[in-house]
Amino acid sequence: MDKTAAIILAAGKGTRMKSNLVKVMHLLGGRPMVAWPIEAVRDAGATRIALVTGHQSDAVQDYLHDDPSITFALQEEQLGTGHAVACAERALQGFTGRVLILCGDVPLIRPETLRGLLECHVSRQATVTVLTTHLENPHGYGRIVKGYHGQILRIVEEKDATEVEREIGEINSGIYCAEASFLFEAVATIGNDNAQGEYYLTDIVRMAADRGQICVSYPVADSEEVMGVNDRVQLAAAESVLRRRINEALMLAGVTMVDPSSTYIDKGVTVGNDTVIHPNVHISGATSIGSGCHIETSVVIRGCTLGDRVTAKAGSVMTDSVLHDDVSIGPMAHLRPGTELLDYVKIGNFVETKKAVFGEGSKASHLSYLGDASIGRNVNIGCGTITCNYDGVHKHRTVIEDEVFVGSDVQLVAPVTVGRNSLIAAGTTVTTDVPADSLAISRTPQVNKEGWRLKKK
Ligand code: UD1
Ligand code: CA
Repeated sequence: MDKTAAIILAAGKGTRMKSNLVKVMHLLGGRPMVAWPIEAVRDAGATRIALVTGHQSDAVQDYLHDDPSITFALQEEQLGTGHAVACAERALQGFTGRVLILCGDVPLIRPETLRGLLECHVSRQATVTVLTTHLENPHGYGRIVKGYHGQILRIVEEKDATEVEREIGEINSGIYCAEASFLFEAVATIGNDNAQGEYYLTDIVRMAADRGQICVSYPVADSEEVMGVNDRVQLAAAESVLRRRINEALMLAGVTMVDPSSTYIDKGVTVGNDTVIHPNVHISGATSIGSGCHIETSVVIRGCTLGDRVTAKAGSVMTDSVLHDDVSIGPMAHLRPGTELLDYVKIGNFVETKKAVFGEGSKASHLSYLGDASIGRNVNIGCGTITCNYDGVHKHRTVIEDEVFVGSDVQLVAPVTVGRNSLIAAGTTVTTDVPADSLAISRTPQVNKEGWRLKKK
């Protein structure tokens, strides 16, 4: 039997974002904001999740549609948080345990905190437990009104509060745990007789308290966790909190960051110990980096796998590529999708690769384009070498076998194969296959016209 479910409220537009895109779809740490509370409730043990959508529900549903644990609930008109929860009832039909309620725009909540909230709720046998925090400036938040024994009597919104109530520093984070049976019965009966004419979810607290049921608060010390994102200033603030958490976890696991405040790493990226990351590096997607690597300044890595002791020199960019141990690339190398560099490969400055596999110890040190290519072991690719892989209609492969030496300024017109241990002379345009152990040379003979310059003058 399912014990914990969750409702995430994400129907609002987010007017203060001043955006054509609904607030919860704005990117935070490389993914839409709504992904963060979803991950948090799942990590805290929720097996069923109801997501209340309204504004641009199609965009939100498209993004999450292949997640079987999520059921969407449409709230066509945003009549208030209480109404939003009522809209989720059908999505959680048959569920009888406890429900975590979160907002889609409160992305920094940690799963540990939600687990603490659940434990508190269960051990206090509460009907409703409210995650709260103490703020020096509680302006704008709902205030927690408590009785003599510390139980919550009600939550009062800023706009409905008296002078005295506005002095209360304990605020409602908008995150709750409630018994499902009580919750849906309560939200079905709340009214909208308040300053905003909305159906307030917070009214369920007073309803439970009035019936003598237990309502408690679970205060979180780090109020940063319950920070809401309402505008782009807060979006940037949330981004820097997430980044700091990711970077601190990596540093504690043995990664050196020269300047963590300018190091941008997505959640889920793994980095081995004794790897050094310089400032202004961006690492995203499903990337894993081994131990003892050096990632120099302004390197961009997306969806790559790096082995141990890899050096990526300044300004290099790599996407969907695999770099084995002891590889060195850059400065300013560009590895495009499908690049695989085996051990000890060296790719130098201004070299672009795409769907290219390099065998152990091979080198392309300067100024090349190598696409749709299979390159063997210990191959030397001279400066300015180009695989002419595209005839305007189709892409063709270039195969260069082991121990080949390609001189400078060579064009390989694909499809073409260069047999093992051959040498391609500098300036050659290779248009037909080269047998193993050969020399291939195609050059227009040079003509020297002596005195030519003097006669011109
Ligand atoms: C709410 C709380 C307040 C708390 C604050 C914390 C109420 C009445 N008040 O106020 O006590 O301090 O959160 O941030 O609940 N939403 C819907 N449908 C609606 C209305 C809202 O899905 O009809 C969603 C919004 O998209 C948002 C969340 O619910 O993600 C919170 O709504 P919002 O209007 O921002 O509530 P607050 O006024 O901030
Ligand atoms: Ca809000």
